[in-house]
Amino acid sequence: MTPHATLKLENKDHSLPVIVGTEGEKALDIRNLRNESGFITYDEGYGNTGSCQSAVTFIDGEAGVLRYRGYPIEQLAEHSSFIETAYLIVNGELPTPAQRKRFSQLLTENAPIHSSMEHLFEGFPVDAHPMAILSAMLNSLGCYYPHLATNDHARDLETYPETAAIIISKVRTIAAYSYRASRGLPYIYPRRDLPYCENFLHLMFSTPYEPYIALPEVAQALNLFLLLHADHEQNCSTSTVRMVASSGANLFASAAAGVCALWGPLHGGANMAVIEMLKSIHAEGDDGTKFIEQAKVGKADTRLMGFGHRVYKHYDPRAKIIKESFYSALASLRIKDDPLLNIAMRLEEAALKDDYFLSRKLYPNVDFYSGLIMRAIGIPENMFTVMFAIGRMPGWIANWREVAANPKGRIYRPRQIYTGKTTRDYVPPHKR
Ligand code: CMC
Repeated sequence: MTPHATLKLENKDHSLPVIVGTEGEKALDIRNLRNESGFITYDEGYGNTGSCQSAVTFIDGEAGVLRYRGYPIEQLAEHSSFIETAYLIVNGELPTPAQRKRFSQLLTENAPIHSSMEHLFEGFPVDAHPMAILSAMLNSLGCYYPHLATNDHARDLETYPETAAIIISKVRTIAAYSYRASRGLPYIYPRRDLPYCENFLHLMFSTPYEPYIALPEVAQALNLFLLLHADHEQNCSTSTVRMVASSGANLFASAAAGVCALWGPLHGGANMAVIEMLKSIHAEGDDGTKFIEQAKVGKADTRLMGFGHRVYKHYDPRAKIIKESFYSALASLRIKDDPLLNIAMRLEEAALKDDYFLSRKLYPNVDFYSGLIMRAIGIPENMFTVMFAIGRMPGWIANWREVAANPKGRIYRPRQIYTGKTTRDYVPPHKR
């Protein structure tokens, strides 16, 4: 029998079914509460609200556990690649060799963008932020594939594998072109012989007269960075993608909305904010000691960026992996004595001993080290959040599919507690 909880409201008992997930997570099903009682639940920031049932990613924030489709992130980081992991997330299972080959072929075939799309980049001011360009271009992409962007979920689901491959492949080309447009560099065409990450680095850094040959360590660091960002459950951008999808919108439009949500400094923009923070600490001649004290005041503009997480109340497992690989990448790239890295290490050491951070369970998150990795492999700072978006694409795509394929799905439409004026009569202009 389904377990139930009883909620007493105004002397009346309401029975709430309990939902249990495959990892034992428990939730009270309040879907009928308003109809039965007139009450809604209030949870600003949704910290205690399950917005959906999902089979993509499992996180246990207290234990520092992250699994994609059941596979621990540590195993995927050690044995898999971004593209194999993307396939897993998008399709639910690791690919067979034949499936993997077909997926790679689809990505290769779809790497170039329509030549008329190249002109769209010219419409942006040279200093336009690449996240603004990325979001606009992803949405525009739907215009080039109207048969894949019908806003009829049943039809859009039939073409899901093709749309998923188009987005995963072209997001890399669009990202690189947005960088090249901002530098006034000519566009370089993708190469059929290069794997995903090497091809991205070629699109970014090759010139018409000199190919960029990525060091294996650089391509590997990028691969790991993208893999670690491939999905992260119902965070702000993924919830945005689901919200947009719930209205029936196509995958291109939903992914473009995800980019906008990711842009903010409390979410994907944090990797860039970490570097800005480290630079300003360095410029002020501080070794991090003064900054740590300011961060403890609790003001939003002096937070220790790259620390804290809504879900992880322990070390973010991605931060652990990225930190370890960072040291080996630095050694291979022969980077020594980066002053920003030294400050980052001092900040981490100080924060992990400080009662302010310990009592609030504030540990380094993935962004604390990911910006440093991006910097070490030569990615410009304003592209850091774009890199996060490239990595997160498989997760957004898989979450879009869950919404589109849910036969009982309803449009996402939360309620509110109204706190404005009560009813009043219209005042004509001459009496105001
Ligand atoms: N530095 C200093 N104090 C902090 C920090 C921080 N980075 N993060 C949280 N706090 C304090 C906050 O002031 C509050 O203190 P008090 O209880 O005294 O009022 C307490 O810790 C709880 O914070 P919160 O704002 O209620 O936590 P939240 O769950 O709403 O926010 C967060 C989570 C990630 C937005 C926040 O920790 C933060 O702003 N961190 C810095 C930005 C950052 O690194 N973001 C990347 C997140 S990981 C990438 C991703 O998955 O998107």
